[in-house]
Amino acid sequence: RPGNTPGPLKYNGTKLIYDKDHEWQPTKPGDIRGPCPGLNTLASHGYLPRNGVATPAQIINAVQECFNMENLTARFLTYAAFLVDGNLVTDLLSIGGKTKLTGPDSPGPATIGGLSTHAVFEGDSSMTRADDFFGDNSSFNQTLFNQFVDFSNRFGDGLYNLTVAAELRNQRIKESIATNPKFDFTSPRFFTAYAESVFPLNFFVDGRNPVRALSMENANLFFRDMRFPVDFHRAAAPIGGKGLRDVFAPYPIKPGKNINGINTYTPDPTSADFDNFCLLYTDFVTKTVGSLYPNPQGVLRTNLIINLRNFYSGIDADENCTEIFPYGKV
Ligand code: HEM
Ligand code: MG
Repeated sequence: RPGNTPGPLKYNGTKLIYDKDHEWQPTKPGDIRGPCPGLNTLASHGYLPRNGVATPAQIINAVQECFNMENLTARFLTYAAFLVDGNLVTDLLSIGGKTKLTGPDSPGPATIGGLSTHAVFEGDSSMTRADDFFGDNSSFNQTLFNQFVDFSNRFGDGLYNLTVAAELRNQRIKESIATNPKFDFTSPRFFTAYAESVFPLNFFVDGRNPVRALSMENANLFFRDMRFPVDFHRAAAPIGGKGLRDVFAPYPIKPGKNINGINTYTPDPTSADFDNFCLLYTDFVTKTVGSLYPNPQGVLRTNLIINLRNFYSGIDADENCTEIFPYGKV
């Protein structure tokens, strides 16, 4: 059985993270990295196992310790990803592609494919990764990063800030609509796209810096090299998706997809959006997880129940979402 899920940090101020015990090392053959620059960096500094395979508890502890991600956000993201991409029996998740290192697979249709698996958590119009349709949704893409730099120069005086985040998010959506016939921007991607746009501000900016703006030098280190800047200190207080609505507001768009080739973006009124957060939770559980595990048995079923409970525990009580139990209770 999976262990207990970690609680909030006891000391939650800023502190030195790039220390002697956590040297950066280049990846060795067989080490796995993926679409998340945050988790990649933690693995390359040994805050996560350097091979890129970790338990949900290790991931929550590491994102809290190193980036001061708030406990509910860490739980919600980690268990969402783990439920659809991880091995529920061995309690292991690959932060990139599929690997034998997560142990024997459970019966399908679950793929247990790691964070790079398209459509269940990973999605389109990422800032520094290409859409899955173009072949590689996981590796750092220099052309896209050049655009990240260009937008930071044009809209942020050379820094990635909230204004740049909104402009670049809109640009990436427009590009996907115009070039990716399979572009899908429905829940959960609708939510994660906006969250990830503010993560570089909330987590990659040094906690001693009063201005939430990221230099291109440090953006390069995190996104490309998977490396902390020298002397990196984590955020000064626990933080999650702060600023997300400021990224959305200048260019509001409804969740939807290209339904018949490029430039056929059509809103999907059945998708959850910012006005219906609990639907994100219920659809994720019943549709996304439900289609991967239609009829689980034994330990798999027990662990699904436990991890669904952990996922729900990441939702703020103020949202008033009702917990659902598609596999019963333990
Ligand atoms: C993107 C997983 C925490 C920063 C992603 C993606 C995944 C992921 C699957 C790819 C989505 C996509 O762009 O299509 C996770 C999980 C976390 C976590 C399971 C557990 C808590 C963090 C943290 C940070 C971070 C703590 C920052 C320190 C980012 C950024 C992107 C991203 C900036 C967007 C990359 C881009 O658009 O090019 N994450 N992440 N993540 N993650 Fe994480
Ligand atoms: Mg993506």
